Amino acid sequence: MDRTIRPAARIGGVVRLPGDKSISHRYGMLAAIADGPSEITNYSTGADCASTLACMRALGVEIEHEGSTVRVAGVGRDGLKAPAARLDCGNSGSTIRMLSGILAGQPFISEIAGDESIARRPMKRVITPLELMGAKIEARDGEFAPLRIHGGKLHGIDYKPPVASAQVKTCTLFAGLFAEGFTSVTESVQTRNHSELALRRFGATVETSGLVTRLEGGQRLTGQNLPVPSDLSSAAFFIAAALLLPGSELCIEDVGLNPTRAELLTVLQDMGAKIQVTDVRAADGETIGTLVIEGPASAGQPVIQGGTIEGATTAGVIDEVPMLAVLGAYSRDGLEIRDAGELRVKETDRIATVAENLRRMGADVVAFPDGLRISGGGRLRGAELDSFGDHRIAMAFAIAALRAKGESVLHNAEAASVSFPEFYDKLDGLL
Ligand code: S3P
Repeated sequence: MDRTIRPAARIGGVVRLPGDKSISHRYGMLAAIADGPSEITNYSTGADCASTLACMRALGVEIEHEGSTVRVAGVGRDGLKAPAARLDCGNSGSTIRMLSGILAGQPFISEIAGDESIARRPMKRVITPLELMGAKIEARDGEFAPLRIHGGKLHGIDYKPPVASAQVKTCTLFAGLFAEGFTSVTESVQTRNHSELALRRFGATVETSGLVTRLEGGQRLTGQNLPVPSDLSSAAFFIAAALLLPGSELCIEDVGLNPTRAELLTVLQDMGAKIQVTDVRAADGETIGTLVIEGPASAGQPVIQGGTIEGATTAGVIDEVPMLAVLGAYSRDGLEIRDAGELRVKETDRIATVAENLRRMGADVVAFPDGLRISGGGRLRGAELDSFGDHRIAMAFAIAALRAKGESVLHNAEAASVSFPEFYDKLDGLL
């Protein structure tokens, strides 16, 4: 689908956004292997989280899905059934990587794969810990989907993932639930801790000490009724729109503000963005609050100061880099993002797809193996843009086009529905 995007004057109003994608996947999987029913409200409406539910159904779990409410009849830790066909995780890296941990602990063989993007994404990072725990996994060329997982008896391991990845941590911990003894994951950098919080919420004991997370195998989970906080990574696109369009004032209510996810806000505030965080409160193990974002007073003012994002900070904003890169073009000093080599193996090579779209809009961009440098002070022009099938690229450039000079056409705009099907309607309602 092509979408024509005209420059906009301002964005304003009060908005609530759909449920967090990361948390929805975890709640969906854990509810399936818990004892008793769960009801999950504000479940992500994106295609990725529907893929997780479809896989759990194919494993014999009864699930009702109406709008954003999901009712899961948990089958307990021994209740999953061998799937009749290959499991399809669509475009969802979270589904294939996290579910592989559960599949490794089952007394049956399963196969899991997804779309063309999934077939290119690295899976060695989950194969290694699962094989160390005793599973056998066949993969295309030893490292790509489809994965054929010979589940069975697992034993706990102490694992130090070579890449900072919450998906790898989650996969290992989920397998650890089915393993004999203790499983621990020691991270080099703190990644999002939704799995640890979700496991506790479903009744498991999980110890965390600094960068080490540890749990004992054999624990049973209990079904829960849980609301999913709204997705901060989806909110990022609206935050950016408000920062780009002079005179904007936008309020985003009840958004997830888990400290291991909210680095974006600190990064933007440190670069001078006017973002107020209010009404912060605990919500079923997670943290939520309200954001009030004020745009620049006039078009002559820079959107943010700019600077460098690197090291652990990059890991904390990894999903938000496409949107930050766009803001970088309107920054005072330019923006350099480093230590972001992981972006090359996301839904697309996001260093390449961001650089390509920014250049089409006339920005001055240098791409590095591990990041980007975007010159500031820019005035982007309308252009023919492409999501390249990547949801975050679609949304980042739909927002970029709002402040461009002249009209833009965004090809493959429908990719947004992987995480946020309501994105364009919500945006149109606020402009
Ligand atoms: C996610 C972890 C991150 C992130 C992805 C969701 C998660 O991936 O980019 O969108 O829910 O755990 P990695 O684990 O590959 O860093």
